[in-house]
Amino acid sequence: MGIPQPAFYIFKCEQSAPPGMPKPSCVTKDTQDLFQHLATTLMQEGVMGTVQPIRTGCMNRCQSGPVMLVEPGHTMYVGLTKEKIDRIVQEHIIGGNVVEEFVIDSEMWDAPISPADMKKQMGR
Ligand code: FES
Repeated sequence: MGIPQPAFYIFKCEQSAPPGMPKPSCVTKDTQDLFQHLATTLMQEGVMGTVQPIRTGCMNRCQSGPVMLVEPGHTMYVGLTKEKIDRIVQEHIIGGNVVEEFVIDSEMWDAPISPADMKKQMGR
């Protein structure tokens, strides 16, 4: 038997903007410990390893931040707090049910364009 793949990767946006930047960012003074909270919660639940939290850069949904993406499933969670992360870990990661009320609005997260179609649109 081989080494098992992770069941989930959780990509947490860790982008911060310097003070005075007009563009919002996912990490501010108030939200800087969310990644640590996620990692600690996964450890406490005993699921670290099969669930891999990843610090990542901007995922272009800054207005809805703090955000994190759960894969597989392409599930983008927005407006995160510690309480929301707790529910996402319990209900989605462990329980297997997406927490719809914390998912980004479908207007902001429409179906993806395949790379082949993107190439056609670009005339290449
Ligand atoms: S800064 Fe987090 S999505 Fe852009």
